[in-house]
Amino acid sequence: MHYNSTEKRVWGLEQSVDSIKEFQIYSESLLALLFKKEIRCDKVLAYSNHALPKGEEYDYLLNGRWHQDSLRSQFKVFLFLDSVSIDSGAFQILTGSHKKMNKLKSLMSGNVIRPSDFLSSKRAYQSFDDRWISRLCATYPEQSLVSDKVSGYIVNTSAIHRAAPCNRGSRYALCSYFRHF
Ligand SMILES: [Fe+2]
Repeated sequence: MHYNSTEKRVWGLEQSVDSIKEFQIYSESLLALLFKKEIRCDKVLAYSNHALPKGEEYDYLLNGRWHQDSLRSQFKVFLFLDSVSIDSGAFQILTGSHKKMNKLKSLMSGNVIRPSDFLSSKRAYQSFDDRWISRLCATYPEQSLVSDKVSGYIVNTSAIHRAAPCNRGSRYALCSYFRHF
C-alpha cells in the first residue's frame, strides 16, 4: 500500500489469472515487435488508486512524485483498465527527458544523484523536488496520458514521470515489468 493506503498493489496475479497472463504475453509480443528480439516480462503489477484523503497529509502526498525508475533505458507496458483523467491519476511524463543528452544535463544539475545518495539506499532520482520539475517543464513539456476509454502505453521509464495525484474517482491498471536489455 502506498500514498496513505490509497494505492493498492498486487504482484504475481499472472500466475493464477488467465487474463493477466495474456496481458503479460501480449506485452512481450509488443516489445519483441518494437526491438526485434525476444524479451521476457519479469512480472506484472496490478494496482488501483483511489482519491487521496483531504487531511493534514494531503500536501505531503502531492509532492515528490516525479521520478525516474532508472537512469538507463527501461521499458514498461501499462494498461489502464478504464478511463483516466488528470483528476483520477493520469500517467504524466516530461517529453524528451529520456534522451541521453537531456539525462546528462539533468545529472549535471545535481538533482538526479547527490553525494548523500552513496551513504544510503535512496537516490535523488527516485523522488524529485517539485520546484525543480516546474522549472524543467519549460524545456521538457509535461504530457498527461488521459483517455476516456481503456488505454495502453509502452513507456521508457528512464524518462521523468509520475502518476498525477488521484483527487477524484479511481484508476485501475496493469503494468508489465522488464529488466534492462
Ligand atoms: Fe515509475
